[in-house]
Amino acid sequence: MSAMPRSDSLLRVRDLTLAFGGVRAIAGLSLDVHAGEVLAIIGPNGAGKTSMLNAITRVFDVSGGEILFKGQDLARVPRHRIARHGIARTFQNIELFDAASVMDNLLLGRHRFAHGRWWQQVLRTPAVTRMEEDARAQAEAIIEFLDLSAWRNAAVASLPYGVRKVVELGRALCTRPELLFLDEPASGLNPEETRELAFWIDDIRSDLGITVVMVEHDMSLVSAVADRVICMAQGAVLSEGTPAQVQRDPAVIAAYLGI
Ligand SMILES: Nc1ncnc2c1ncn2[C@@H]1O[C@H](COP(=O)(O)OP(=O)(O)O)[C@@H](O)[C@H]1O
Ligand SMILES: [Mg+2]
Repeated sequence: MSAMPRSDSLLRVRDLTLAFGGVRAIAGLSLDVHAGEVLAIIGPNGAGKTSMLNAITRVFDVSGGEILFKGQDLARVPRHRIARHGIARTFQNIELFDAASVMDNLLLGRHRFAHGRWWQQVLRTPAVTRMEEDARAQAEAIIEFLDLSAWRNAAVASLPYGVRKVVELGRALCTRPELLFLDEPASGLNPEETRELAFWIDDIRSDLGITVVMVEHDMSLVSAVADRVICMAQGAVLSEGTPAQVQRDPAVIAAYLGI
C-alpha cells in the first residue's frame, strides 16, 4: 500500500504515462498540487504539458499510473463528470461558442448544476426556476468579478482576443471549481493584458479560494503569481522549486536550448 497523501495534497499524480502511437507524450510523470497554491508548469514545446492537462481532465485515457484528486481515482471518472468533481480548465486554443453571447457562454459553464429531474424540467417546477436564477446570479457575479459587464450581451466572435481569453476564464469559474487548470493563459496577450491576468489569477486564489495550475511560457507572469514552478521535459518532471530556482537550473536551461 502507498503512504497516505500529504494532507494538503489536492491532486496527486504518480508514474503517469500517456502514449500516442509510438510517441510517449507523458513518460513517468509524478507531481503533487497543494491546496491553495498557484503552481506553474513550464517546459519546452512538446514537453507534454497539454497532454498532462488532457490526461487529468480525462480528454484522453492514460496508459498507466495514478491520478488522485482528494484521494479519488480520476481514471474512473468520465470526462463529462470532471466538472462536477470540482475541476475546470481553459484551453490553449480558446474553446467558446462564438455565436453566443458572453452571458450565454457563462451559463453554459454553469450547466453541471442544472441537473434537475426531467419532469421538473418539463413542468418548470419552482426548483428548476430557482436553479436557473441561481445560475444567472452566479454568472452575473463572475461578470462583475472579471470586469466583463460592458461585453455581457456581445457575441463572443465580435470580441477582441484578450477579452475572449477572460470570458473563457469566466466560463471555467462558473463551474465553481476547487482546482483550475489554465493552458497558456498569457499566449497572445499584450504586456498590459498579461499584467491584468496576474491580478485575476491572484484574486481567483485569494478571493475565490481556488487552487490554480497554470501552464505558461511567460516568465514575467510565472514570477508574478506562482508559488512554485515545475519544469517538464520529455513527459516527466525535470526541475521543481521557486520561479527563481527553476529559471537558473542548468538542466532547465539546457532543455530550452534543446541540448
Ligand atoms: N492528440 C495527439 N495525437 C498525437 N500526438 C500528440 C497529441 N497530443 C500531443 N501529442 C504529442 O505529444 C507530445 C507532447 O505534446 P504536448 O502535450 O502538446 O506538449 P506541450 O503542451 O508541452 O507543448 C508531442 O510530441 C506531441 O506531438
Ligand atoms: Mg501545450
